Amino acid sequence: MTVPLLAASDIHKRFGHAHVLKGIDFAVYPAEICALIGDNGAGKSTLVKILSGAEKPTKGELSIAGKRVSFSSPGQAQQHGIATVYQDLALAPELTPSDNLFLGSEMLRPGLLGRFGILDRAEMRRRAAEQFARLGVKLRSAKVPVSSLSGGQRQSVAIARAAMWADKVIFMDEPTAALGVVQTERVLELIRQVKNAGISVVLISHNMPQVLEIADRIVVLRLGQNVAEFKAGEASVESLVAAMTSGVAKSGKDAQ
Ligand SMILES: Nc1ncnc2c1ncn2[C@@H]1O[C@H](COP(=O)(O)OP(=O)(O)O)[C@@H](O)[C@H]1O
Ligand SMILES: [Mg+2]
Repeated sequence: MTVPLLAASDIHKRFGHAHVLKGIDFAVYPAEICALIGDNGAGKSTLVKILSGAEKPTKGELSIAGKRVSFSSPGQAQQHGIATVYQDLALAPELTPSDNLFLGSEMLRPGLLGRFGILDRAEMRRRAAEQFARLGVKLRSAKVPVSSLSGGQRQSVAIARAAMWADKVIFMDEPTAALGVVQTERVLELIRQVKNAGISVVLISHNMPQVLEIADRIVVLRLGQNVAEFKAGEASVESLVAAMTSGVAKSGKDAQ
């Protein structure tokens, strides 16, 4: 059996009296696109935050390639090759795409200039262009501020940035929710490129046809529990909706 890149077992999360994750098991395997679906409030975003270091679980274990880990920040998860692209993007709108790729991880000039904190802009621009080319991202211009790009292009920059700093797993929470049809297709193509580059993607989406089009595996949550899992080709919009709305939890041991 393949060892998961990232695995979570018996994850619980309480916010005060609200028990929002009740013993979730989740794994990400090498070179896959895994969709994470469920109705509003099912716990998808909370689970992703836990798996990417933005929240701590109340109980439960995480492991990477079979070794126990715990993350106390998104930066720590990133050191393990894990990053998240959030709905609200978190790009710096006034900076160029290339600057955004290196935001917080700027490269310094070699030698004395670098020691004085002088940035190596030419090298960053070169590497950024390489990264966009590798993922097939075609920007209208690499020199304009990100705020002047379309929503789809901004999302592409955010994904390219995540793929620059994470080499194992990228979580994407509704990456196409705000996009039109054409831009959505481009972002889906980019997600496939990320997978081809050897990085696994966990995609949260409400768009069932999209999930069926792109995912290799589909994990369904309901009310903070695992309720179903499908392989690509074994699911339909009807079976996914049925699992999301009336799925019976696989394990009732932690249900309250
Ligand atoms: N910081 C928080 N404090 C209290 N409750 C929260 C918090 N974050 C999420 N929740 C609750 O946890 C449940 C799961 O939320 P969420 O993970 O956002 O679900 P989903 O992303 O599947 O819509 C919801 O009932 C939500 O109200
Ligand atoms: Mg959510």
